[in-house]
Amino acid sequence: LESDAWQKGVLYAEGQNLARHLMEAPANYLTPTSFAEAIQQALHSTGDKVKVHIRPKSWIEKQQMGAFLSVAKGSDEEPVFLEIHYNGSTISGESPLVFVGKGITFDSGGISIKPASGMDAMRADMGGAATICSAIITAASLKLPLNIIGLAPLCENMLNGRANKPGDVVKAMNGKTIQVDNTDAEGRLILADALCYAHNFNPKAVVNAATLTGAIDVALGSAATGVFTNSDWLWGHLRQASVVTGDRVWRMPLFQHYTRQITESQLADLNNIGKYRSGGACTAAAFLREFVTVSHWAHLDIAGVMSNKDEVPYLRKGMAGRPTRTLVEFAAYLSQERQKS
Ligand code: BES
Ligand code: MG
Ligand code: ZN
Repeated sequence: LESDAWQKGVLYAEGQNLARHLMEAPANYLTPTSFAEAIQQALHSTGDKVKVHIRPKSWIEKQQMGAFLSVAKGSDEEPVFLEIHYNGSTISGESPLVFVGKGITFDSGGISIKPASGMDAMRADMGGAATICSAIITAASLKLPLNIIGLAPLCENMLNGRANKPGDVVKAMNGKTIQVDNTDAEGRLILADALCYAHNFNPKAVVNAATLTGAIDVALGSAATGVFTNSDWLWGHLRQASVVTGDRVWRMPLFQHYTRQITESQLADLNNIGKYRSGGACTAAAFLREFVTVSHWAHLDIAGVMSNKDEVPYLRKGMAGRPTRTLVEFAAYLSQERQKS
């Protein structure tokens, strides 16, 4: 029906608009706690097939998420690990699709502090968390027949007397140690623990989104989200979804070449920055891969598509909420494929 297609379009647009709104919001208003509460409220209004856990610092400590905690402790703002469940599947106990999103509500860079000019844009460094949570809210509104879990480590990257210092060593949930040579490469630290935790759910696939590197902006600009994946199947369907929505993705490499540059640390198993500056988006992806054992995983680097000037004519200037609609379309495809098989 034409009116069904219209209604679907309205819901997709509302999903992206929620992500835009959350990304644009000032960091003094949108804290880890208020982000989690906003998502809880929006998700609950979709129906009763949802569950929300707002995990406090004590829970994060119990999980031994040492990499996430090391970033969070540099700020006076309390961290939150947000876990949302949408149980839309008609098959009981069906494996979920797990979405993971970087939730840095403000990225000052920490002790490796960023230049003052343009730092305000780092209020949108929770764009990964905003897009994956908005996509799940939209999937729930559409009543898609599949299970989705959303995970968002939420904190600020700030500098106080307890902040990470270059050369510090921290330990992630899976026991791997990390030498933090640059405190501004914090996204990969919080995602390391969230990716470890994602494996607890026997996921069908794990897809993470993160405003991870300035380097992906240099590589692709705002034309497309960079996708790093170990799965041709996942790549094919993410790409197909992006062709439908027009919010494009482009595949990037996960060569051992890059892994070698983050595994040669003096003090730990891994270093949080590459040995060389070149290929920064690729060394960041190689770092994340060290925390993944599932066979269908994709990392979406959305730093290049974070904001819009005038490149995308149907989006206003400001934070873009990309690629929320592509994530929804991918989930919609997966739910149909499940129905058939
Ligand atoms: N949040 C930034 C990446 C970013 C930059 C997002 C510009 C959006 C626009 C991330 O935490 C960061 O600071 N990355 C560093 C990594 C470097 C220290 C290896 C970067 O890209 O410079
Ligand atoms: Mg940073
Ligand atoms: Zn960041």
